Amino acid sequence: MQTEYLQFNKRDLSHAGELIRAGELVAFPTETVYGLGANALDENAVAKTYAAKGRPSDNPLIVHICDKSQIYDIASEINDYAKTVIERVMPAPITIVLPKRSVIKDVVTAGLPSVAIRMPQSAEARQFLRAAAVPVSAPSANISGRPSPTTWQRVREDMDGRIAAVLCGAPCEVGIESTVLDLSRQEPIILRPGAVSAEHLSQLLGVQVKLLTDPDSKVNSPGIRYKHYAPKVPMVLALDDDFDKLCAFYDQKVAEGYNPVLWAHDPLRFVGRNAVSMGLDDGDAATKLFETMRMLETKYDFIIAEFCQSKNGIYDGPASRGVLDRLLRACGHNLI
Ligand code: TXA
Ligand code: MG
Repeated sequence: MQTEYLQFNKRDLSHAGELIRAGELVAFPTETVYGLGANALDENAVAKTYAAKGRPSDNPLIVHICDKSQIYDIASEINDYAKTVIERVMPAPITIVLPKRSVIKDVVTAGLPSVAIRMPQSAEARQFLRAAAVPVSAPSANISGRPSPTTWQRVREDMDGRIAAVLCGAPCEVGIESTVLDLSRQEPIILRPGAVSAEHLSQLLGVQVKLLTDPDSKVNSPGIRYKHYAPKVPMVLALDDDFDKLCAFYDQKVAEGYNPVLWAHDPLRFVGRNAVSMGLDDGDAATKLFETMRMLETKYDFIIAEFCQSKNGIYDGPASRGVLDRLLRACGHNLI
């Protein structure tokens, strides 16, 4: 298949919309990561998503909308927590999970009785969704298991020849996928941390919103069973602020014949060793995270990352938990 590369002009947007309604796959930018869109109401179109990504069919998709009224067409019960989030937070890098209506088929939700809904903040994403004129299911536009794409060029690397079109928009500003907030049960719970933090949601909803990974939460989310975001080269992660340990680990890898790199908050400290910045704060780290991961794996053969949340307070903002989550998955929880 010849993939078309489309621009954000009237003609290309309306063509992208036609492709979606004709049951084709179109990748598009959002503020978090690029998505791989299909008509969420067309089971054959949605099924193509799993094939193009190589995604296990038991991992459900997020349905994207551009108008809040669409939520009532696809979700059956909207409780007070959901109403507050819909009114006061959306559009934002957040996805809410609610009981589904029957228009949303099992192929979208992997057989679950709930549906994940997201209204992106990005103007480009909403232009595309308006042109599509149907709810659009979209996972991140990467091959399953690879780091999510935050530029259209990275989408091309993974998806060229596999999908009908890519809408070439701006690089993604947030850089990590949306916060997934399950509002289909008694208590709200975060299934995947993102830029909208648990602290912010707790304050807004007047209840302590926990993360799925908290030791006492027993809920399960399909997506977290899979290995995610893995770079092609080995990676380890240090969570403390131990300069000597990092240098010793680096030097040991060099002695073993590797060409390693330190992915660190302050690369200038590591004079004479390969070192790249993790970001000036947690928001900046999120923005650059997947792009840097994809760059490092092409230049080095061992990644030694450090992410110390309490480091001078620079990494303790709202995106901190989300960045930590992606780094832990990328290294397969291989801590040093
Ligand atoms: O920022 C994002 O959310 C991006 C952009 C494109 O919007 N999309 C994205 O999709 O990250 P994906 O497919 O890579 O991740 C979807 C996550 C998975 O962890 C999946 O298990 C979870 O959402 N999910 C989807 N439907 C669910 C449901 N009904 N119940 C629980 N979790 C669900
Ligand atoms: Mg993904």
